Amino acid sequence: MFERFINQNAWTLKTEEAETNATTPSHIAIIMDGNGRWAKNKGLPRVAGHREGMKVIHKIAEHAKAHGVGYVTLYAFSTENWKRPKGEVDFLLRLPERFLNVELPKLHENNVQVRIMGTTEELPKHTIQAVRKAVEKTSQNDGLVLNFALNYGGRFEIIEAVRKISAKVEKGELTTDHINDYLFSEHLMSHSLPDPDLLIRTSGEIRLSNFMLWQLAYSEFYFADVLWPDFTKGHLDEAIEVYKSRKRRYGGV
Ligand code: IPE
Ligand code: IPE
Ligand code: MG
Repeated sequence: MFERFINQNAWTLKTEEAETNATTPSHIAIIMDGNGRWAKNKGLPRVAGHREGMKVIHKIAEHAKAHGVGYVTLYAFSTENWKRPKGEVDFLLRLPERFLNVELPKLHENNVQVRIMGTTEELPKHTIQAVRKAVEKTSQNDGLVLNFALNYGGRFEIIEAVRKISAKVEKGELTTDHINDYLFSEHLMSHSLPDPDLLIRTSGEIRLSNFMLWQLAYSEFYFADVLWPDFTKGHLDEAIEVYKSRKRRYGGV
């Protein structure tokens, strides 16, 4: 929580002396996009792209960690992705289980803490079980935090925060004077995480698609012209280099 504020107010410490960030981002959020197009380009069904995209995750998370990144948030399934054909939705919601069956032992061994952000109750039982198991097993790890946005939507998250805060006001636990940036952040699904410093979206699309609308207020954006299954460690290096070359001003000079 405290870290979030350090990030947002970093300009007070940095802008006067630094021309660029120069520091590694603490939190990288990634919109892993382009799996369907990757498959289509190869004449394969869309789900083949999702399978291939899943294989990239561990490698990129480990590489982020090697850079000194503390938190990686991955957009895995949005609240809007239910609009896709049932077969594709079913496949996408099998992926967490498939991914964790293979990767969980290694993630745990590498001291990675797995977290989930989203409305998990709406997910199929097998998905809930797989992610709960991973979250519980790794909860004491204090290495990289690997946060999956699963059935996540930024607007829904904000509405839920408003609901929770309103309920507390109704019960007399809070007054409207207590509502500020800090309190609001603490009622979001991302609560104990600092805001992302860097947002990466692959596939060439330049939009947020309802991702972390509150938290990305002062993040640096990097749009990579590569489809997610083709995203390599080299692409991540480049994104981090570009991030380091930027100067974050937070409204200052
Ligand atoms: C991203 O790839 C994965 C999810 C949305 C779950 P897409 O499936 O959106 O791939 P494109 O954008 O159609 O190529
Ligand atoms: C965003 O990608 C969601 C995820 C990567 C999970 P989409 O492919 O769903 O976004 P749009 O439809 O192109 O905006
Ligand atoms: Mg897409």
